[in-house]
Amino acid sequence: MCSQSSYKPVRKAVFPVAGLGTRFLPATKVMPKEMLPLGDRPLIQHAYEEAREAGIEEFIFVTGRQKEMLEEHFDFQPELEQVLESRGKTDLLQKVRETEMPAGKLFTTRQPKALGLGHAIWCAKELVGDEPFAVILPDDVFLARKGCLAQMVDAYNQSGGNMMAVTEVSKEDTARYGIVDIAEDNGKTVAVKGLVEKPNPEQAPSRLAIMGRYILQPEIFGILSAFDKGAGGEIQLTDAMLKLSKQQPLHGFRYDGKRYDCGTKLGFIETNIAFGLADPEIGPQVRKTLASLLDETNETDSSHEAA
Ligand code: G1P
Repeated sequence: MCSQSSYKPVRKAVFPVAGLGTRFLPATKVMPKEMLPLGDRPLIQHAYEEAREAGIEEFIFVTGRQKEMLEEHFDFQPELEQVLESRGKTDLLQKVRETEMPAGKLFTTRQPKALGLGHAIWCAKELVGDEPFAVILPDDVFLARKGCLAQMVDAYNQSGGNMMAVTEVSKEDTARYGIVDIAEDNGKTVAVKGLVEKPNPEQAPSRLAIMGRYILQPEIFGILSAFDKGAGGEIQLTDAMLKLSKQQPLHGFRYDGKRYDCGTKLGFIETNIAFGLADPEIGPQVRKTLASLLDETNETDSSHEAA
């Protein structure tokens, strides 16, 4: 069955990937943080696959200095493919082919200075043009039966407007996210009356936090063009969305699945463990390995205590 929506389809996705990744130095001294592996695929590929699943056709990377590897990753590698083919490594060949971006579908633009997420998105203005688009922050990854963006596109096709993924966080964690001031909570979706970027827990209007997936209308660019600075002296996407919500509908979308944070060292380790456990091929072994590591740690701890 073909479901027709009266709203303009979401065909393009913007991936802000200009960040320096200082939290992962020295690993990210030369290599972009988006190339850190989660299982056998780099973070940027997880983001790309989620976008494809959601029906995205054009992929816009907002890059910066020393980010060329991200484009390379999605290019055709004939020598590598020949070697794998001649050795009969069909599984690996398949995996390599999955990284190839269709011809003419990858676009890049640069964010010359780290002026904030809102500014990064503004840098994609000409490439997006006059149509709705998705934003994917590759640090945020989801374990979900259906990708978070695909779920959002389904919801968007029913409702139109602007949308962002949201989930409840602990009170202390509100300072790490954009937080929603809820006008009306309809369960799956939430009507928004306000947004605050990284509030102190005492000032947070709720515990409902923005996760790194958005569907936005192109009018956001006009608002971003004012280059107004917000939290941390940066041009914030959250602030621009708040302004847009005065002109157009903006909804929070509670996705099915769990979001993981690959933007911190601990979060990155947790994500790798969670994805390892969920991997049908190695999941059972990961479980055993973890159990034995924990046993060893417990033994070492108690022998230290006894000494
Ligand atoms: C960005 C957004 C924030 C959002 C978060 C999700 O912050 O500004 O509103 O909650 O992503 O990960 P960042 O983590 O880039 O500082």
